[in-house]
Amino acid sequence: MKILVTGGTGYIGSHTVVELQNKGYEVIIVDNLSNSSADIVDNIQEISGIRPLFEEFNLINREKTADFFKRHNDIMGIIHFAAFKAVGESVQHPLMYYRNNLDSLVNILQGMIDNGIPNIVFSSSCTVYGQPDELPVSENAPIKKAESPYGNTKQISEEILSDTAKTSDLNVIALRYFNPIGAHESAIIGELPLGVPNNLVPFITQTAIGIREQLSVFGNDYDTPDGTAIRDYIHVVDLAKAHVIAVDRMIEKNMNKQIEIFNLGTGNGYSVLEVIKSFEKVSGQKLNYKIVARREGDITQVWADPEFSNKELGWKAEKGIDEMTLSAWKWEQALRK
Ligand code: UFG
Repeated sequence: MKILVTGGTGYIGSHTVVELQNKGYEVIIVDNLSNSSADIVDNIQEISGIRPLFEEFNLINREKTADFFKRHNDIMGIIHFAAFKAVGESVQHPLMYYRNNLDSLVNILQGMIDNGIPNIVFSSSCTVYGQPDELPVSENAPIKKAESPYGNTKQISEEILSDTAKTSDLNVIALRYFNPIGAHESAIIGELPLGVPNNLVPFITQTAIGIREQLSVFGNDYDTPDGTAIRDYIHVVDLAKAHVIAVDRMIEKNMNKQIEIFNLGTGNGYSVLEVIKSFEKVSGQKLNYKIVARREGDITQVWADPEFSNKELGWKAEKGIDEMTLSAWKWEQALRK
């Protein structure tokens, strides 16, 4: 059973390829390596013992995408990760984000329809909820106006999928991720931020290993118990496993409707200071940090109501915060060796 994983050499993509191969799926990766490297294919092989097929091209290229699908019309399902994901960069370069994240989706859907490929799992985000009025946030929470072009591409992508499903046999599962962190237990794959990390955990581990001098904690005047912002951090391997379950569900025709949406989070919120404390505990290191002003665009707090995913998918995030920060730390150390 052949599954296409776009963005399969990226952070969440690579972990998902490993889990798919562990379950016996044949994987073909398409990635243009804009934010990853071809070595990841070797690393995936090292972990799972199986080398996924790999084609390097940009899915915003219509001809190349159409040609790919013609050659691989036996694909049973697609997991579409390939996208730009930096919130701040998307504010600076909106058209780059709209073109990259939306054209690629349109080209993929055209290829699916032209070749009778029925199933797509889409990589969405809890960013579609903005700052929710009620916590925990369930899949029925209202979609708020996007805070950034990046967030808007996730909202529009969900709409494109929904409109396309209405006029075709397409099956869609959109997975709305909370904050993925951590790395594979082998420390052979993990998150590889280019340049200065935007996200909290890579910034913590890079500070601890000496690449960054100090972590800035963005704000301690939020309306939360310790004043720092709260997120629902989820281990990337737990997240990857949910994708395999989503693919199984589509292929086994267990979906309740043509489009399904699931939140992927643990249901637990941790503040920035709590994440730092967890890191200090598992690493035995004191972290050099200081409190600075809030970061523009950040919300106060969000965490998932994972009940629907737990029940419908039979999936539950298993790893706790200490396992997440420890695996991120082991990965950082392995990377610098
Ligand atoms: N933070 C710091 N210092 C840093 C980096 C982050 O204090 O150097 C804080 C942030 O202010 C926030 C928390 O750590 O309170 C988490 O920040 P991240 O940047 O790691 O994650 P976000 O919640 O901002 O963003 C994530 C994804 C986005 C997505 C968003 C909402 O990275 O792609 O969730 O879904 F849009």
